[in-house]
Amino acid sequence: MPLLRRRPSVASRRQSIGPFVAAAVLAAGLLVVPASAPSPVAGIGPLPTCRLADILTVPRGYDDWATTQVDWILSLGPDYKPPDLVSVRDGGVAGGGLVRKLVIADLKAMAAAARKNGTPLVSWSPYRSYGQQKTLFEGYVRGSGYDRAVTFSARPGHSEHQLGLTIDFVAVGDHGLTTNWEVTRTGAWMAKNAWKYGWLMSYPKAKTDVTCYSYEPWHYRYVGRDLAAKIHDSGLTIREYLWANYTMVDPVTGSPLPIASVTPTTPVNASPSPAVRPSAVPPDSAKPSSGLSSPSTTSGPASEAATLFGLDPPLVIVGFLLLLAAIGLVASLGLRRRSGRG
Ligand code: DAL
Ligand code: ZN
Repeated sequence: MPLLRRRPSVASRRQSIGPFVAAAVLAAGLLVVPASAPSPVAGIGPLPTCRLADILTVPRGYDDWATTQVDWILSLGPDYKPPDLVSVRDGGVAGGGLVRKLVIADLKAMAAAARKNGTPLVSWSPYRSYGQQKTLFEGYVRGSGYDRAVTFSARPGHSEHQLGLTIDFVAVGDHGLTTNWEVTRTGAWMAKNAWKYGWLMSYPKAKTDVTCYSYEPWHYRYVGRDLAAKIHDSGLTIREYLWANYTMVDPVTGSPLPIASVTPTTPVNASPSPAVRPSAVPPDSAKPSSGLSSPSTTSGPASEAATLFGLDPPLVIVGFLLLLAAIGLVASLGLRRRSGRG
């Protein structure tokens, strides 16, 4: 006589799937919280000291224009050529050359304001290709020697001019660039007002220890109005601010750091999306670091929070849902088998 097995009661069935449900809910709690937190962005940390290297900068997508770092260490590489170069004259300034289209609206506004002030702007040197920068730099090396040339001219790949966001400005009638430009009427107007239109002097006076370059009162880089206001308010140079908040490459090894799942958009004349805006930089980060940082000591909370077990949060959610479905399937199969036998 076959043994009669009792059909499991509803209570015991609940007991058998209870642990699965509890585990799933717990896992959901653990996984969903970090996945739904905003993705912070932070740079590698302390400012690397000035050292000549050839590390490819990160980020360097054409959409990352506002936050792309170029300096003595970091390079854009020979192939970086913005796809949307237009004449600077579209921006209402005299002179020649090219800039990225996305600067035009703010360049136009700044040029109009400067004109209204009686100090119209002239573009002396805007976009330069890798090849043009190479020719220029080699000329300076022949004239001044390598060690001196690197203090006032970027090596090819390392110039902000290659970004298509930078212009060396002069005033009408100027015949070249001069270090007293900031005290001329036009230079003084720019020093005071350019940031309001998204433009910042990259290499200000007495900042060589952090910018690595000598004072260039004529050299302005466009970063968009929002970011320019933040950098201006911080009192930092562009280089310091980007290293502290956006630059995502190890300055020693050249390894890219994990980047938060952020996709900056490039609307014409817009600044980075709110998701990539940095928080205010603490005043003490203005101090130059005495040494190079290493990833183990400097990767900030951003890189940790931005990923979970090395995965993007959306991937984690999908993985979790699949896991949950599998647990449910196994639990229900187990139940059916037991009730079938009974
Ligand atoms: N004069 C600046 C540093 C450049 O060459 O880009
Ligand atoms: Zn310049």
